[in-house]
Amino acid sequence: MYTILIFYNKILNYTILVQKNIYSFHIEILLSLKTVEWKDDSVVMIDQTKLPNILEYVTYTDFNQVAHAIRTLVVRGAPAIGVSGAFGLALACLQSKATEKNELIKFLENAKKILFETRPTAINLAWGLNKIMEVANTGNTVEEIRRNVIETAKKMAEEDIQINMSMGKNGSELFNDNDTIMTHCNAGALATVGYGTALGVIRATKESGKNVKVIATETRPVQQGSRLTAFELKHDGIDVSLIPDTAVGYTMANNLVNKIVVGADRILRTGHVYNKIGTYQVATMAKQHNIPFYVAAPLSTFDMKSNPEDVIIEQRKASEVTGIGDKKTAPDDINVINPAFDMTPPELISGIITEKGVAKPPFEESIKKLF
Ligand code: MRU
Repeated sequence: MYTILIFYNKILNYTILVQKNIYSFHIEILLSLKTVEWKDDSVVMIDQTKLPNILEYVTYTDFNQVAHAIRTLVVRGAPAIGVSGAFGLALACLQSKATEKNELIKFLENAKKILFETRPTAINLAWGLNKIMEVANTGNTVEEIRRNVIETAKKMAEEDIQINMSMGKNGSELFNDNDTIMTHCNAGALATVGYGTALGVIRATKESGKNVKVIATETRPVQQGSRLTAFELKHDGIDVSLIPDTAVGYTMANNLVNKIVVGADRILRTGHVYNKIGTYQVATMAKQHNIPFYVAAPLSTFDMKSNPEDVIIEQRKASEVTGIGDKKTAPDDINVINPAFDMTPPELISGIITEKGVAKPPFEESIKKLF
């Protein structure tokens, strides 16, 4: 593994010319490079735990490193971890010393298990891993499997951007000139290979000539809203205001927001949406204030088999809640409940935006039609 470090100091940026050049370079890289990509038989990704202060690219050649990156949020966001899982299996194909198909499939099954166990809620991870295993199983020789797996994983990454752009176009029709749109967590370029789901819809709305403003929630405890969403939108020149999660009710009650769009980690056939913790609060508050609440997600985020009681909500470590960054903000040995996701029921959702169109209530029927 090697890393490229680019340090960005905001204060120095305004006073030292050299630093200013680094700042421009920083932005350029973020907009032109992908969150995760396959390069020279390795996986390159932005280390999102370091944003927005440090832009660091990490390069992995071992699927165990990819599993660790998913678990520790170096890469996060449902579509991004789906593609990362697929790239992890592509690395496993290169790592295996197998000379026979059966041996390679056994090695891949073990890698799949390790990658799968990293994060339980976003269905895109299982989707990416299963898709690659299907391709692997249809190959006849070790060489053919290696070639096909790598090609398929690369194609999944390319398609992710196309899908997000189609989703953006479909969603942009729901938004009007001068709308102020609230979003929660980060469902942007950094949560996907590029362009984003919920932020893709906002980007497409802006690209269609409508003037929109965004309110981004901070999204405690990991702060994907302030660290990633605010960062992405600001650098794209989209008017964004950051609010603490506790100001969601205030902004709605004071008419500061008139539509909402969020991403999703899993959507059931019934229209139950699993997304970042706090989404349920935003949706409930939106209902109270009659504000349309939209979800944007690709078809790979739909789980047509499970029921709500089957879905595992990831519980994360206490230190995310007992501190902010390295600073401790709670007493020692305090009990903590730290779920990473919650479930928003279909009755709170106005529409689900996908690359195939917008599903409207009743969702059981409209979602079925999308497939
Ligand atoms: O814990 P994270 O950062 O992986 O959670 C991400 C989210 O909840 C996103 O909103 C969701 O994955 C949609 S991303 C396009």
